[in-house]
Amino acid sequence: MKWLITGGCGFIGRNLIRHLRKEDEQHSIRVLDNLSVGTRADLERVAPSYEELSLARDEIEESLEDGGVQLIEGDVLDANGVQKAATGIDVIVHLAANTGVAPSVDDPRHDCETNVIGTLNMLEAARHQGVSRFVFASSGAPIGECDPPIHEEMAPHPKSPYGASKLAGEGYCSAYYGSFDIETVALRFGNVYGPLSSHKSSVVAKFIRRARDGKALEIYGDGHQTRDYIFTEDLVRAIRLAATTPGVEGELFQIATNSETSVNELVDALVPVLREAGLEDVEVTNTEPRVGDVRRNYSDTSKAQSMLGWEAQVDLTEGLRHTVEDLVPSAEFERQEMV
Ligand SMILES: NC(=O)c1ccc[n+]([C@@H]2O[C@H](COP(=O)([O-])OP(=O)(O)OC[C@H]3O[C@@H](n4cnc5c(N)ncnc54)[C@H](O)[C@@H]3O)[C@@H](O)[C@H]2O)c1
Repeated sequence: MKWLITGGCGFIGRNLIRHLRKEDEQHSIRVLDNLSVGTRADLERVAPSYEELSLARDEIEESLEDGGVQLIEGDVLDANGVQKAATGIDVIVHLAANTGVAPSVDDPRHDCETNVIGTLNMLEAARHQGVSRFVFASSGAPIGECDPPIHEEMAPHPKSPYGASKLAGEGYCSAYYGSFDIETVALRFGNVYGPLSSHKSSVVAKFIRRARDGKALEIYGDGHQTRDYIFTEDLVRAIRLAATTPGVEGELFQIATNSETSVNELVDALVPVLREAGLEDVEVTNTEPRVGDVRRNYSDTSKAQSMLGWEAQVDLTEGLRHTVEDLVPSAEFERQEMV
């Protein structure tokens, strides 16, 4: 299969590339990334012999060989460029985005352009280049404050520009299926953690970085706020299934673990793992609660289970071990190879 992964130099994109290359050496992967966050060196970690391709090159379609990985430095806002990038592609996984609530509050226009117009451009590329599947990375943010578990039938009330722009992306996916038969599948990811996340500001990556640097883990407020933490390997399996499972065109899925974990419980699981990794004296402090933080959040994943045949399998401690091992170079665990 020929894959176009936008934002493929980032955290989730590189985990997906690693997974696909392990699964089948024949997968051909083209990455479109503007390198605003991910870098060439980042991509090299998962695809050491990737080839860089220029959008100025004419014969883009034939250039993607079986088993090859290509990088195109380009922006999803370049409507012509993305058409070229999508030539000869079977599946687009659209990950490139403004990825956070805080930057969307700082600059809602930039968030809207990247997440709404960028998604529209990629859907147009799928339409005109005959791409059969389009997998869209959404999040829980479209729903806003609610009584969990979040599920697909809940009415969305986004509280941030990021939630609004992801909701618009979900809407365009549904519309491109309805109007043009593009096989779109939108996935709402939970709080993703795992290897290759050292640049992320999410709580797991931040705690591990702080522990590694000898700093205290700071819990905002009382630590009873809950989230649904999903390990990368589970997440990329869901993306993989969304890319090929028949009968899920035009659908939206919650992709998380179906379980609620408080920040205090996360710390209770993480500190022993850090200790195993040689970080003995990890300090934990409580600071002021963060304004606007959602109190409780987790997802009902029964729709993904019944229609995609998918459910999360990696438990929190195991996932944290893999993450610490990747983010703390000195960590040495006695454990089995990951399946
Ligand atoms: N990480 C999570 O916990 C999480 C949760 C829910 C949803 N998501 C969604 O998953 C997707 C991937 O997130 P991630 O954590 O891998 O983020 P990331 O920041 O690590 O990766 C995003 C990549 O997209 C690239 N990019 C950004 N703007 C671009 C543009 N205009 N054109 C081309 N490339 C561009 C960046 O350079 C980066 O390499 C995003 O759509 C995000 O909103 C992530």
